[in-house]
Amino acid sequence: MMQAAAPLPKLSRIPPDIAAVTDYESYARARMDAGAWAYINGGAADEWTLQENRAAFQRIRLRSRVLRDLSGGHTRLRLLGQDFAHPILLAPVAYHRLAHPDGELATLLGATAMQAGMVVSTQASITLEEIAAHAVADDRAGRPPLWFQLYIQPDRDFTLALVRRAEVAGYGALVLTVDAPVNGLRNAEQRTGFALPADIQAANLRGMRPLQLAQAPPGKQAQAGEGVLLGGALMAAAATWRDLAWLRDQTRLPLLVKGITSAEDAVLAMQHGVDGIIVSNHGGRMLDGLPASIDLLPDIAAAVSNRVPVLLDGGIRRGSDAFKALALGAKAVLVGRGYMHGLAAAGAVGVSHVLHMLRAELELTMALTGCRDLTAIGSDCLM
Ligand code: GLV
Repeated sequence: MMQAAAPLPKLSRIPPDIAAVTDYESYARARMDAGAWAYINGGAADEWTLQENRAAFQRIRLRSRVLRDLSGGHTRLRLLGQDFAHPILLAPVAYHRLAHPDGELATLLGATAMQAGMVVSTQASITLEEIAAHAVADDRAGRPPLWFQLYIQPDRDFTLALVRRAEVAGYGALVLTVDAPVNGLRNAEQRTGFALPADIQAANLRGMRPLQLAQAPPGKQAQAGEGVLLGGALMAAAATWRDLAWLRDQTRLPLLVKGITSAEDAVLAMQHGVDGIIVSNHGGRMLDGLPASIDLLPDIAAAVSNRVPVLLDGGIRRGSDAFKALALGAKAVLVGRGYMHGLAAAGAVGVSHVLHMLRAELELTMALTGCRDLTAIGSDCLM
């Protein structure tokens, strides 16, 4: 195997040739270990869904109206009773310390500077309490509340403890990820032999009892594709609709489900009392072959019919992508890889620059299509 070059030092200022979110990609790659890059950036299997998330946005054409009065325009919205300056949130991503030594704290600083909502991952590399403590200190900047992303762990008592910890720490909502009962088959990651470095951990999960995988060899976690999945302990412990009903009963926090890809499941989720739905194919990291999330959105938005807010992630790299998602029925969008590239390249400054570009592009798109605020963005803005 070729010896990979050592990661370059982080950027201390933004190079003038970064004019778009995707320009961060090569800067980020050169500043991460090859394995960490493959983990953060890779998708499942052939990465068809990963690519389709982008390609589908590029197929959608805009329609504009001219000479409208746009005075007093803005991008503000209210979501689950909370105020947001704009509809671009940071998606939950595991282990930010793979991208930057300051990890989630650098991300939070960047989000705060741009008044962006941030969803903290269960698998964050810094505890949810420490992240929240930094958020409180930054409240003057008017940053919206943090949300906490939850995986239902095989240990339900531990899961409940996580919920209580998020409540006590002041998180404004729970985002339950439901599309990952097992890891996707991430070939790019396997090929680099990626393993989490010893000093980076899922800090929130410290002390959790590991699942006893009867059919996995001792000391080895079962992986997708190893032929011991169905009928094994991992699947037996995987969450079901019953667990969603249980979780709904346990907390008064607004509860969103993330990873909904069908209208049927969106309706079921609403019947279970969720407060919001996130249309997501997990950034193309789970089931390769799923359509782009933006192509899944219209049917789901129609089925939900504004009873709860629908959000979307997957493939957002331009403010105009956010605009297209809003036009097809989303109330807000989440960005994942885009800000992780900013973080890996330039820390907090990179994250805020990515958010700044996305927001500026969204506002430009609104101005050029004749939309004064987010409520004006509808299907009539698309061809
Ligand atoms: C975890 O959610 C991952 O996508 O790696």
